[in-house]
Amino acid sequence: MPSKRPRFVGGKILRNTGHGIFYRMEVAVPDRVEFVPGQFAMVSGWPGNDPLLPRPLAIFRAGGARGTGTVEFVYKVVGRGTALLSGLHEGDPLSITLPLGHGFELGAADRAWWLVGGGVGFSTVFPAGAALSEGRGDFEMFLGARTRDQLPPREWIPGGNLPGRVHLCTDDGTAGYFGPVGDAVRERLDGLKASERGRLTILACGPREMLRGISESALARDVPMQVSLENHMACGFGVCWGCVTAVREGEKSAYRRVCKEGPVFDAREIVW
Ligand SMILES: Cc1cc2nc3c(=O)[nH]c(=O)nc-3n(C[C@H](O)[C@H](O)[C@H](O)COP(=O)(O)OP(=O)(O)OC[C@H]3O[C@@H](n4cnc5c(N)ncnc54)[C@H](O)[C@@H]3O)c2cc1C
Ligand code: FES
Repeated sequence: MPSKRPRFVGGKILRNTGHGIFYRMEVAVPDRVEFVPGQFAMVSGWPGNDPLLPRPLAIFRAGGARGTGTVEFVYKVVGRGTALLSGLHEGDPLSITLPLGHGFELGAADRAWWLVGGGVGFSTVFPAGAALSEGRGDFEMFLGARTRDQLPPREWIPGGNLPGRVHLCTDDGTAGYFGPVGDAVRERLDGLKASERGRLTILACGPREMLRGISESALARDVPMQVSLENHMACGFGVCWGCVTAVREGEKSAYRRVCKEGPVFDAREIVW
């Protein structure tokens, strides 16, 4: 039976291909993977212990049938671990622990959703878009990047061909809105009627500054928001406390583990 409990699996790479600045990797695993959008995996594919720690990657897609499964990741090379991943080939083994963490809460019917991805943060929100598409959910997507070439391929975007669904934003104006995605979101929020704001929930993943800005805009207008944080991680399953973030607890603040209580949090809780 496919399990939602975290487990360690040995995978075998089926594909690991570059698409502009991103890589997309598909891996065969021994059983079907079930996950909640926003959950992640700890991944390592290099021989030996250098680097010592696996790296966290959002589960981008998973499928398969009983006794045979596939899982996909999308990543950008930023350092040693992701560079090593990018050099792996079809047939190479991959060590994966998944599904980890607490994903997005998509429970409420009849809501409207805005999904915001900054940089490679789209890899965390697209699975939420795919789940909402299946349930015929009402959602729009805001995607931000420095420049046109750093946006994800259109065919990866859930519902990407539907008119009005996707809002591209670039810092240099080479595609879509000219400016940070947070500004586009704030301007759109200001154009909504109170009844439209009342139905809306924002889900976002991206650089911390982007999340902080959008959460200020959303919360000031009473729009609930869930943020997925991408802190550095060591163990990935709650043991080392290397990934903590400060949260509000009544009048005080406390620490929560991004890998265990997160990576998705209610934006109201976060001390930025
Ligand atoms: C829950 C979660 C899900 C993630 N999902 C994805 C994903 O789907 N795709 C993807 O490309 N990345 C994702 N990330 C980020 C990814 O884990 C890091 O980019 C990766 O661990 C970097 O490893 P590295 O060895 O290549 O870089 P390192 O050598 O560890 O670091 C290289 C540089 O990047 C900086 N850096 C490394 N990690 C982070 C970070 N988390 N935040 C800010 N700066 C960092 C370092 O400070 C350093 O300057 C996710 C992170 C988390 C916590
Ligand atoms: S990474 Fe070890 S507790 Fe979160």
